[in-house]
Amino acid sequence: MKIKWPKRIAHFEQPRQWESMRIAKELEAKGMKMLHFEEGDFTGYRTPDVIAEAAIKAIKEGYTKYVPGPGLPELREAIAEEMERRGRPTDPEEVIVTSGAKFALTCALLTIIDEGDEVIFPNPGYPPDEFWIKYVGGKPVYAPLTRPDFQWDIDALQELVTDRTKMIIVNTPQRPNGMVVKNVKEIAEVAIDNDILVLSDEIFSKMVYPPNKHVSIASVPGMEDRTIVVDTFSKPYIMTGWRIGWAVAPKEIIEKMSIFLQNSITNVAAFVQKAAYVALTHPEAQEANKNLVKDLQKKRDRIVNKLRGVPEFKVVEPEGAFYVFPNIEGTGKSSKEFTRYLMEKYGVAVVAGTAFGSNGEGHIRMTFAVPNEVIDEGVERIKAAVESLGG
Ligand SMILES: Cc1ncc(COP(=O)(O)O)c(C=O)c1O
Repeated sequence: MKIKWPKRIAHFEQPRQWESMRIAKELEAKGMKMLHFEEGDFTGYRTPDVIAEAAIKAIKEGYTKYVPGPGLPELREAIAEEMERRGRPTDPEEVIVTSGAKFALTCALLTIIDEGDEVIFPNPGYPPDEFWIKYVGGKPVYAPLTRPDFQWDIDALQELVTDRTKMIIVNTPQRPNGMVVKNVKEIAEVAIDNDILVLSDEIFSKMVYPPNKHVSIASVPGMEDRTIVVDTFSKPYIMTGWRIGWAVAPKEIIEKMSIFLQNSITNVAAFVQKAAYVALTHPEAQEANKNLVKDLQKKRDRIVNKLRGVPEFKVVEPEGAFYVFPNIEGTGKSSKEFTRYLMEKYGVAVVAGTAFGSNGEGHIRMTFAVPNEVIDEGVERIKAAVESLGG
């Protein structure tokens, strides 16, 4: 049968940011020993026991059935308290529990964006946002972040605003470079002056290296009723595979997102929600998050120091998340060419900066939530790869 595909899926392609993962698997199948820096996940880490045990207990207690769509009341309350700590007073009815932050972003975009609406989107940014904007016929408008530290240029932002601008997407600390957005107040001013909504992706909020601090744009006066905050349990509690995240927004938005959620996934598995409640409220889980951040900070320092030993690279120290985004222009190769070369000839899998937008050109993204030996050997191989280009 010949399927007549709808126009709205004309942009469907395998996720660009996972292309390196796919290529790495193919090369491994051919026998290559690959070092993995391309995954947006943890290698060598496990969900803290206190969280895992809470899920097992909840399954045994019968939390295995349908539950209210927007989330278990105690979890919504705990998330509201978390948001209050970020400076945005929150009622539990302004909270929805979703299957990962990605689904919260999807729910928000599909519920709010209309055909022809413009959404200002950071370049480089998070590709799934763009994917869903296009799906509903909206227009992604790329806000180029300034180099070398990938901050928002407020004058440029102001110029991008039109009477069709419905939303600005902010992600801090940012993917793919780990930088904390410094000018959230100025972005908020643009949003308020032009009556625009903000979708604030804060999934690395609990992965910030001191002295840097996370600031939620929702805490800026005047932003409470125009911001949708999205966060996750995936990264801070090493729960990437559990698929649970959340959104906080004004009640009228949450009600619509909840209708979307109830008619799609119905609800996030109850035992997963019970475990997430423990993640957010149990001192042991909070301690595990603090230790994780300390551990990752050491890895950040290790990889940054080593990469700075590659003369052709320029490396800005990431302030949060667990990605480093070195500038590789000195190699004379494009991001994509250099990525292919590293993978095919040296068995080092990284992601081309352009997988996150055109403004990622000249960069590669490397995950440092990997064992120290992988960091050490990986950077040695990269050094050899760059040296052999020079020769
Ligand atoms: C910026 C950003 N937002 C959202 C997500 C999705 O996270 P989750 O696992 O909660 O769906 C990711 C995943 O890596 C991300 O990098």
